[in-house]
Amino acid sequence: MLKIENLVKSFNGTIAVDRISFEVRKGEIFGFLGPNGAGKTTTINMISGLLKPDAGAIHLDGRDMLSGGPALRKNLGVVPQDVALYEELNAVENLRFWGGLYGLKGAPLRRRIDELLEATGLADRAKERVSGYSGGMKRRLNMAAGMVHKPKLLLLDEPTVGIDPQARNHMLGLVRVFAKQGTTILYTTHYLDEAESLCGRLAIIDHGRILASGTQDAIKRIVGENRLVRVTGRFSGIAAERLQKKIKSLTVVSAAENEAVFSLPVAQGTGRFLEALIAGGLEIENVGIKEPSLDSVFIKLTGRELRD
Ligand SMILES: Nc1ncnc2c1ncn2[C@@H]1O[C@H](COP(=O)(O)OP(=O)(O)OP(=O)(O)O)[C@@H](O)[C@H]1O
Ligand SMILES: [Mg+2]
Repeated sequence: MLKIENLVKSFNGTIAVDRISFEVRKGEIFGFLGPNGAGKTTTINMISGLLKPDAGAIHLDGRDMLSGGPALRKNLGVVPQDVALYEELNAVENLRFWGGLYGLKGAPLRRRIDELLEATGLADRAKERVSGYSGGMKRRLNMAAGMVHKPKLLLLDEPTVGIDPQARNHMLGLVRVFAKQGTTILYTTHYLDEAESLCGRLAIIDHGRILASGTQDAIKRIVGENRLVRVTGRFSGIAAERLQKKIKSLTVVSAAENEAVFSLPVAQGTGRFLEALIAGGLEIENVGIKEPSLDSVFIKLTGRELRD
């Protein structure tokens, strides 16, 4: 449905999005996972037409989005990272405003607004000013605003940032409902667990580049049958590197002062590894073991954890 090819964008000579390509298929919730500053919003803004790419192509159902203009963009719903609502208006008025922008009016718009208020659980607060809403309620209304014209493809830019776990679950449920109703979704997040629970296929982006993309299983196979072992304590990076020579099947993912990450075949067991740590004279405070997961893929690809 959405095909992104070799998209590039820089700001004042600094590259924010560096030749990224991926495809979102009809009916799926595609995850776009990356840490702060990875280039997620820049990508979304190029898809929605807010930013012009330096190079690359964006096609929606085979049609060129970059020359297609507003008519093609009507197929898109955009839910921006920063909530875009009129605080002094109530929910109905906000949705009427957004509907109006898409040329909706009268009874069809009223019906659509009722549907969305029902779906987002805001029906009984619909006549209150948005300024009195909780963060979670604002996020849900923000999402409803992006859905008012029943877009084919919904672009969600970190819709759960800054809300409590209950509001977050509500939001994720809503994403699933919209997907079930037939909306294709591009779901941007820096939360691994969200990508893991929502998305069949996803892309991992960091520093403007896609590090891995495909089904979750395919991505997890990057770490293969390995587990990641993170060791902290008091030791030098060189001492940590040296373990490589003692255990052939071990890969040193990163070795810094007092913190190292190793990749070890699951079949191998960790006993020999722990012995080697001690024999190597490393003063250990903590050993954390991670089974293959999106998190371990990220660590393997970047040498760091995906965090704020
Ligand atoms: N308008 C701009 N002018 C200059 N630099 C920008 C601009 N927009 C983004 N950048 C830079 O581009 C890079 C990517 O930013 P972007 O906002 O796309 O990241 P992101 O993945 O959405 O991050 P976050 O999780 O913080 O929202 C960052 O280094 C950012 O500082
Ligand atoms: Mg962003």
